[in-house]
This record gives sequence, C-alpha cells and structure tokens, in this order.
Amino acid sequence: SSAEEYSKGLAGIYVAKSSICTVGVKGAGLNYRGYDIKELAANSTFEEVAFLLIYGYLPTEEELLGYCRTLSSLRDIPGALKDCLERIPASAHPMDVLRTGCSILGTLEPESPTNNQFQIANRLIASFGSMLLYWHHWVSSGKRINCLTLAEDSTAKHFLKLLRYDGQEPSALHVRAVDVSLILYAEHDLAASSFAARVTTSTLTDFYSSICTAIGTLRGPLHGGANEAAMHLLAQYSSPDDAESGIMKMLAKKELIMGFGHRVYRNGDPRNPIIKEWSKRLANEQGGNMKLFEISERVEQVVFREKKMFPNLDFYSASAYSQVGIPTLFFTPVFVISRTTGWASHIIEQRSDNKLIRPSAIYTGPESRPYVPIKERK
Ligand code: CMC
Repeated sequence: SSAEEYSKGLAGIYVAKSSICTVGVKGAGLNYRGYDIKELAANSTFEEVAFLLIYGYLPTEEELLGYCRTLSSLRDIPGALKDCLERIPASAHPMDVLRTGCSILGTLEPESPTNNQFQIANRLIASFGSMLLYWHHWVSSGKRINCLTLAEDSTAKHFLKLLRYDGQEPSALHVRAVDVSLILYAEHDLAASSFAARVTTSTLTDFYSSICTAIGTLRGPLHGGANEAAMHLLAQYSSPDDAESGIMKMLAKKELIMGFGHRVYRNGDPRNPIIKEWSKRLANEQGGNMKLFEISERVEQVVFREKKMFPNLDFYSASAYSQVGIPTLFFTPVFVISRTTGWASHIIEQRSDNKLIRPSAIYTGPESRPYVPIKERK
C-alpha cells in the first residue's frame, strides 16, 4: 500500500484472521464462535461462555461442572497479593487496582510450563473480583474479607456476595442480571483492548503483560470506561425533562455523549436491547430505580432524534449495574472480569499463528538537518 494513504485509528482495516467472534458482519449482529449473542444471553451462563471462548466449543454438562469447580478453587488470592493490595490508597481508581493486582500475581505465579496460558486465564477470571473487593473492604472499612464463597457460586454471585459481604444471599434476579451482563461483555473482536493485548502478545512476552496492557486500554472512556462515564452523566439529571435539556446543551456544544456510537455497528448495538430489557426489569422490581431507567430512555430518544445515534452496551449497563448496587467506579472492573475471557482467546489465537505486530507511520517531522552543538543553540 502507498505510504501516502493510511487509516486514522485503523478504521476499516483488517489486521488479523480470527475465529473467535463476528461483530456487525453485514451491519448487525454479534456471534461468539458462531453462536448468536441473543441465544447465549437467553440460555447460557457466563461460565459456559467463558469455556466456549477459551476452549472453542460449548462444554458438555460434565465439562461445565468441572470448569465451574476449577474457577471456584481459584477465587482466593495469595497473602502476598493481599499485602500489596492493602498498600494501594483508597483514592486509587479501581481499574488501577486490577492492573496492579494482575501485575503482582504475575510475579507470584508467573507463566511457566506448569502454569500455562489456560490456567492463568482461569485464575484471572476467577480472582479479579476477589482482588478488587479485598482492596475495597480494606480501604473503606479496614476489613480483611475472606474471598472464598460457596463452591457452587457463579462468578456473578461470587462478585455480589463479596461486594455486599453481609452474609445475605443476593437475589436470583440480581445474580442473573450480572451474569447476563458478563455474557454480553465477554468478547468483541478487535476492540482496542483486545488489539492492544495482541500487539503485546506478538512480541512473545508473558500472558500477564498482555492482560495488563488490555486493562490499561479498557480503562479509557472511549472504550470500557464509557459505562462509568455514562453513569456520571445520568446521575446529574433529576428527571427525564431535565435530562433532555442537559443533552440538548451537550449536543449543541458538540460534546460526546458517553455510551453512544460505535466504530463498527451502523444500525445499533445488538447487545443494547438485551441489557436495556434487564435494566427495565430491574426498575420494575422492589428496590429498582424507575426514574433512572426513564432518564436513560429519554437520553436515548433525544440522542436518536437529534443525531441518529444509538446506545452501545455501556449505556444501559450503567443503569442496570446501579440498580443491583454496584458502585459506579466498579462498572469498568466488572467489564474486566468478563472481557478477560475474550482477551485470553485473542492471546491464545495470536500465539498460535504469531507475527510481530509492527506497523509504520508516515513521517511528517523536519527534514534531515545538522546537529547543533549545545553552546551554539539559542
Ligand atoms: N456523542 C456525540 N457525538 C458522537 C458520539 C457520541 N457518543 N460518537 C460519535 N460522535 C460523532 C463524532 O464526534 C463524529 O462527529 P464529526 O463527524 O462531526 O467529527 C461522528 O459522530 C463520527 O464518529 P467518529 O468519531 O468517526 O466515530 P469513531 O468510530 O471514531 O468512534 C466511538 C467510536 C465509540 C469512540 C465514539 O462513538 C465515542 O466516542 N462514543 C462515546 C464513548 C463510548 O460510548 N464508547 C464505548 C464504545 S462501545 C463499547 C465499549 O468499548 O465499551
């Protein structure tokens, strides 16, 4: 290709062959390894989807049971990691806590022939919630929590139990709402974080380095940080009418509305109707927040009316997570727990057919010029 042409942000450029997932092929839809996200969200569990993404096929009943047992056995975290987490200030962003926790685990349980990429993937999926919530309870109330929950508890239930840590069972509705959101967040082709993980992987570095890269990349508000940013936006409004005038002002100033738009989808994000339905369902339940749902729906209507833009998964994830009691700063960390499955699949795939990812830039700097000795510089 000519050195004069390039695609800013790699928009529309194919940089890999992948058998993991399809995003917006023919303008719509999302499949994980050939299975429609709608069917997965309606019928499967997050653990089933994690197995599907990492091992490439849907597990049998027996395999799924074994996989859930494996994850349960990996939920506790080493004492040395707990010590490090206790030193992270309460003011730290929870995404920085996970990025750090991942890095520390990499020093304690490094990748090796006896701790391979599959084992590390499962370890991280099982323990990211533990890391986050161990740190949270320590810095917020000086409590050292026990990160183990019942062996049969799903990743979603483990998270909610550790979050609340009040000895109560979270409701089945709340557990399933989080479980479905983990399914929806699990994989999305070459989203910036998965691409970044593949770039890192392509140097033949270790698994943890690739996941640290991915967490840092997911953190920004144009990517995973959008769910947190969407909640900050919604929290400003006291009513749907208030939201309408606020959004109109933002659009007039050409400000970004977080949780809207997408690089690939042109006619809507297929994950949006699913998470929206869950947000609505939660709003109708006891303890739900119908006003928050109605404010969200008004924002959706106004942005579509004015800009023909549609919400992506992050938009109604905000009101759904808020209604199950997840603090706003933990929204993107929940995304990490889920997307580790997708990142792992991309790392494994990149390694199976590796070539160093090293593109080129079109140089626009100064022409070649003589070096100026320091005393002659003005
Ligand atoms: N609010 C207002 N205007 C927007 C938005 C938005 N959310 N998204 C795009 N636009 C405008 C954009 O400013 C541009 O206008 P103009 O042509 O006048 O410069 C036009 O629409 C085309 O957008 P673009 O910048 O070419 O789109 P992109 O493909 O580079 O960016 C995006 C995609 C997701 C980064 C962008 O839509 C955005 O910033 N959205 C808000 C953040 C967000 O919700 N991110 C989550 C993405 S999906 C899930 C995830 O990764 O977590």
